[in-house]
Amino acid sequence: MRLIPQPYNIELTGGTTQLREITKRENASGFGEEEYELIIKSSGITARAGTEKGFFYADVTMKQIVSLYGTVPCMKIYDKPRYQHRGFMIDCARHIFSVDELKKMISAAADVKFNKFHWHLSDDQGFRIELEALPELTEKGSVRDCDSFINCKSDKPYSGYFRKEEIREIVSFCRARYIDVIPEIDMPGHQSAFLHVYPEFTCKGDAVKVKTTQGIFKDIICAGNKEAKEYLKKILDEICELFPYDTVHIGGDEVPKANWKSCEKCSEIMAENGLSDYNDLQCIFINEMAGYLKNKGKNCIVWNDCLKGKGLSPEIAVQHWQKGPERTSAEANKGRKTILSPFTPFYVDYPYGMHTLKAAYKYEPEKLKGLDSNGKESIIGVESPIWTEHINNNDRLEYMCFPRWFAVAECAWTAKSNKSYNEFYEVLVRLCSNYREKGLNIAPEKDWNPSVVTRLAETVKFFIPKK
Ligand code: ACM
Ligand code: ZN
Repeated sequence: MRLIPQPYNIELTGGTTQLREITKRENASGFGEEEYELIIKSSGITARAGTEKGFFYADVTMKQIVSLYGTVPCMKIYDKPRYQHRGFMIDCARHIFSVDELKKMISAAADVKFNKFHWHLSDDQGFRIELEALPELTEKGSVRDCDSFINCKSDKPYSGYFRKEEIREIVSFCRARYIDVIPEIDMPGHQSAFLHVYPEFTCKGDAVKVKTTQGIFKDIICAGNKEAKEYLKKILDEICELFPYDTVHIGGDEVPKANWKSCEKCSEIMAENGLSDYNDLQCIFINEMAGYLKNKGKNCIVWNDCLKGKGLSPEIAVQHWQKGPERTSAEANKGRKTILSPFTPFYVDYPYGMHTLKAAYKYEPEKLKGLDSNGKESIIGVESPIWTEHINNNDRLEYMCFPRWFAVAECAWTAKSNKSYNEFYEVLVRLCSNYREKGLNIAPEKDWNPSVVTRLAETVKFFIPKK
């Protein structure tokens, strides 16, 4: 019996059942929050769990068994996840997707027991949340002149944002599937949309455009500007209200420091704190924002770029995506909570030829360079992002994510000793055909692990601009 993600233990007990649904629920004491048992007999199907979430996962498993196997064998399943953070990220800043399109993605992710939807809602190319406190930010920050991305081009202005009621709809859709939504407001870099509306919050006060290309931009928020930080806190206030969960992501990736280096206000803070490295100033900035959120009862996640500086508060969790695995490991070894989102192979906005299905499946979190036994305990989970500079429609979004997200789901849930690529692959073919019938645009099997020649061609094509 093979499922995705494969459960912790399955014992076939002989015979089959005509039943299709759980017929009895039993409260089990001593079970973890996500742990459950399914006892399938010809006379009845019993789920045992300690929480509603546990019962939910028993249901999810039962539905998958029925969808994959015409005849349901009698068996006993005991299951629990490998990791507590099983995440998928969708970038709605570069291109926005409708509530219904997002629900389709979330629903497929929930079916393989993902439990964190990291929602990237602001970036250089657009700010996409309705705000009461700063309506001008939504109005002007959500619009760019055109699309000039390498693989997405349009002369027309591009705009869009989520109304509060739409955000609440997504939150309640996720809640019904035991998925926490983690909103990301990226700072102090990746903030051209914010700085377009408030150019006075850059170090030099120059005008800033909402960006129309991919890239890393020098326009960042002045770390010495008190008012800029007050405005960010106003955004966070509304974010905390909209997202009733315990965690907010505040970005911290790709922050070029050139403007800080020539800024009086930034240099003053450097001097006050006796700093010589501008990466440390980023830690002060991030710590202040995280402290503000902590007072509101929220934890913070930042990208691992924040570890370039010294002094990042140990309470802030780090999401590792690239470069400096030793730095990430050193912090994990000291006990910092760590999420792994390795660029290769978990960035699924890159072609299958660069990040193959097989590579996504074979990724092993504990192999992060420099991780000791303490560090392994600090890995709270894994997450796969889809960035959307090159993805402007839902068909493409689904094609890029699936089936690679099914492989990531197994990395997140299934015990290391239960993993087998060949077994996963065999059942994946059937699972994908079921989802295709339901209308999900899963990549065809021939694209999952391209030949070396195709891989080279896909890589070159990805980096050469379309006319
Ligand atoms: C990132 O990909 N810039 C986190
Ligand atoms: Zn400055």
